[in-house]
Amino acid sequence: MDELRIRGGHRLQGTVSVSGAKNAALPIMAATLAIPGRTILHNFPRLRDTNSMIQLLTQFGVAVEFLDDHTIALESSAVSTCRADYELVRTMRASVCVLGPLLASQGEACVSLPGGCNIGHRPIDLHLKGLSALGAEIVIDQGYIHASARELRGAEIYLSGPQGSTVTGTCNVMSAAVLSRGRTIIQAAACEPEVIDLGNFLNACGAQITGLGTSTLTIDGVRELQAVEYTIIPDRIEAATWMMAAGITDGDLTIEGVRDDHLTAAIETLRTAGLAIDLQDETARVRRAGDLQPLDVVALPFPGFPTDLQAQLTAMMCLASGTSVVTDRVFPDRFLHAAELLRMGAKIRRESSGVIIEGVNELSGACVMASDLRASAALVLAGLAARGETVISRIYHLDRGYEDLAGKLSRLDADVERQKGGRPNTPQFAGAPTPSASKTSSKG
Ligand code: EPU
Repeated sequence: MDELRIRGGHRLQGTVSVSGAKNAALPIMAATLAIPGRTILHNFPRLRDTNSMIQLLTQFGVAVEFLDDHTIALESSAVSTCRADYELVRTMRASVCVLGPLLASQGEACVSLPGGCNIGHRPIDLHLKGLSALGAEIVIDQGYIHASARELRGAEIYLSGPQGSTVTGTCNVMSAAVLSRGRTIIQAAACEPEVIDLGNFLNACGAQITGLGTSTLTIDGVRELQAVEYTIIPDRIEAATWMMAAGITDGDLTIEGVRDDHLTAAIETLRTAGLAIDLQDETARVRRAGDLQPLDVVALPFPGFPTDLQAQLTAMMCLASGTSVVTDRVFPDRFLHAAELLRMGAKIRRESSGVIIEGVNELSGACVMASDLRASAALVLAGLAARGETVISRIYHLDRGYEDLAGKLSRLDADVERQKGGRPNTPQFAGAPTPSASKTSSKG
């Protein structure tokens, strides 16, 4: 299994480009199941998760072609099956995003229930509630969701659970509602930029969605959607991870592909933590303004501080000059990184849905294990700042959401090496569809 070796203590410097947003790309890719013709997506991120979605769509009969490294064409005119098997769904929960588009276009879908997850309890009851409200009949049998509907009809849907709105739940219901008869109103919709990006994409295809970015979406169903070319937004979580990489290593990074309107809470929080962030157009220059300052931060749905940055912030606060409190109200158990950070000399205590972090003067390199995508990013940040060598195992988690992380880090003067069985290597999926060997499936 691949591991990442980091010899810490180097200040990161240089310019880094942020890739397309994973969590926008995945539901947009899934939505193409309901869009006849050839959709072309620019700024497409080359990730393990987008690769898994390609595999899934290919199984359904979608033809996938890379036009260049970051441009993909998806041709969904010959969807031949509606079943998403456990084997794929368990590796990527976002597979559930195919449910709404399949139901809307094929009238049925059979998708494995995703099962357990390292970041906590992740039910999909709200997805199912929303689709039922549109008229789908839903049966859970032998670990699979069987959904069917002769016709979907617009409805008023309240889509909030104990932890608030749901991102992929909103995407699923929105993707089905655009092709339903009549008007759908989704209350308590997620406002995340990735949901807006899916909505903008669907509108470009002919859908009629208003209220994107607010908690009330109004969707007037249309008979069909048309394929378009669309550019995916940059990944706000990657952007802010680079900001924290500059902060924790006392470096100086110029980050390209920063949408400050997607990062208001993160930028505010990081500035309070002592980072100097200069924004111009879609570029941010990030340095330290002084010592890292302790914080009291709560991760919340957008526009709050994102749960997907909670682990990275926890790592950075390990080196702050004082005691921080980091709470996660979206995924209250998403703290597996805390135990690994302890092994690097951090002083962290778990308390209800958060951690209390007493800043230390330095971290020391150690062998640590990645438990999920953002926890892995936290360990990378800690490793970059630590004295000595850190070896992070199970870095396939990182590959799910950070494109060419080791390569980008190396170009910023970090001392990192990706290894497999003691030998440097590159991620397996890097050899997946390339412009020269482009077709990954045929229409059939
Ligand atoms: N929830 C329910 N019922 C549901 C759905 C969600 O109770 O039917 C709860 C969850 O248990 C959680 C909260 O609602 O406590 C929010 O979950 P949400 O549904 O919004 O999460 P998600 O859609 O499964 C997406 C991202 C996650 C990100 C969360 C929160 C994608 C593919 N995934 O997940 O991204 O953490 O929203 O912002 O968009 C990541 O990229 O590392 C990642 C985990």
